[in-house]
Amino acid sequence: MVAIKASRAFTGRTRIAKVEGAYHGGYDYAEVSQTPRPENWGSLDRPNNVPLVHGTPDSSLESVVIIPFNDVDRALAILDENAADLAGVVLDPMPHRVGLNPVEPEFLEAIRTWTRKNGSLLVLDEVITFRSTYGGLQMRYGVEADLTAMGKMIGGGFPVGAVAGRADVMDVMDPNGSNYVFPHSGTFSANPSQHGGGPCRNEGLRRTSRGTAQWLDQSSTPGHLRSGQSHRSQGLRHRRWIDRTDSHEGSSSQKLP
Ligand SMILES: Cc1ncc(COP(=O)(O)O)c(C=O)c1O
Repeated sequence: MVAIKASRAFTGRTRIAKVEGAYHGGYDYAEVSQTPRPENWGSLDRPNNVPLVHGTPDSSLESVVIIPFNDVDRALAILDENAADLAGVVLDPMPHRVGLNPVEPEFLEAIRTWTRKNGSLLVLDEVITFRSTYGGLQMRYGVEADLTAMGKMIGGGFPVGAVAGRADVMDVMDPNGSNYVFPHSGTFSANPSQHGGGPCRNEGLRRTSRGTAQWLDQSSTPGHLRSGQSHRSQGLRHRRWIDRTDSHEGSSSQKLP
């Protein structure tokens, strides 16, 4: 939520793009087309904006542009149509609701290039994938996001969320800065016990003989990616994934970079 609002505040644009079927938390905009169904998901070239929750305001739906996952041509065509309004493209490099299928490097690079060219921000949701190695999954892809959302493991068991990113973008939340256009505070801000949990956990891992990064790499690479088994059944609710597996049987064994 904070990353989406920060990208709006920085760019002065109101809409965001997200991948059909991806989960980014319980926030109206993030929930659009999280679980579309064949009867309402629309055409491949122009996916519908489907609300998750009954009663979601139309204005929230209209604020989101839905793109298909790992489909460069279709995604860029949709982004081009909406270029002037887009504050950012939100992307999870290994979305769990789309079958834990990692983003293809060409797709991530295409979105990175498109966002730079069009004055939009690349917002990577690494809430889950940040655990894959020290710099998150983006480090393994060699791509740097403008904003990165993190959570889960950074709290070492405590519930916590964080956003990091380009200094000029983060400045929108700095009360002492010259571009303070996103005042941000709340019950869950700067909670000391939450922030202690993550470093404690990492210190514990550092003391293991194998070292944290190696341990994280080995322990968090999903078994089905290593073994190359098909995990088609995990993505049955998402037609893009069904389309891909139907036409490229075996492509689900793709490796992370
Ligand atoms: C990939 C992903 N993004 C975002 C979120 C939402 O995080 P939060 O509940 O802190 O808003 C989650 C939570 O499970 C998640 O798995």
